[in-house]
Amino acid sequence: MNTFKIALVLVLASGGAMAGQTNEKEQAMAATAALGKALKAELVGAMQSGGPLAAVEVCQSRAPAIAASVSSKQGMQVSRVSSRNRNPGNAPNEWQAEVLAMFADRIEDGEDAAGLTWQETANVGDGAEYRFMKAIPTDGVCLACHGTSLEPAVADVIATRYPEDKATGFSQGDLRGAFVVTKKLETE
Ligand code: HEC
Repeated sequence: MNTFKIALVLVLASGGAMAGQTNEKEQAMAATAALGKALKAELVGAMQSGGPLAAVEVCQSRAPAIAASVSSKQGMQVSRVSSRNRNPGNAPNEWQAEVLAMFADRIEDGEDAAGLTWQETANVGDGAEYRFMKAIPTDGVCLACHGTSLEPAVADVIATRYPEDKATGFSQGDLRGAFVVTKKLETE
């Protein structure tokens, strides 16, 4: 094979990989949107019918189930992580913590948390994994349970259910955490 052909093959191969990532990204965006929407609907419903106290219960019992159901529907693993997590099960692993730190830096530099995304394709074991993260900003409605001054009854129930809670003290616009999407890729 001459040099030109090798170069052409490389260009085609990387073009193919990029096209693949675009497709994965669309799927990942759809998966995070679906999870975000389902969680918000559940949260708003619970807040309206029972106030924040009842909604804590819903967040605890329903959030993991909703994430599992969205994951199986979308064919990708979708979850939420935060460096200041309420549920210790939502602590980030090493690469997720790095991306969260990068998001936090970018917000400090003036970027809007709502638009931040990141993706990569990583080699894991004998295959590849597509990884996507999308920042979750703190919104006004979040402050009842993640803000600086919680109703005493809400603070009590959170302290009882989450003795290691790190998820208060946020202000509107702060990075609350991120959606994480992963997908094992077929090896060719
Ligand atoms: C009614 C109280 C309540 C409100 C309001 C609320 N949350 Fe939460 N949040 C919780 C609870 C409880 C958990 C822990 C859920 C679990 O056990 O998986 C949680 C967990 C999370 C997590 C997962 C990471 C972690 O800390 O464990 C994120 C991200 C999050 N909330 C974001 C938000 C955002 C964004 C809003 C506003 C749109 C919001 N929350 C509003 C109670 C609340």
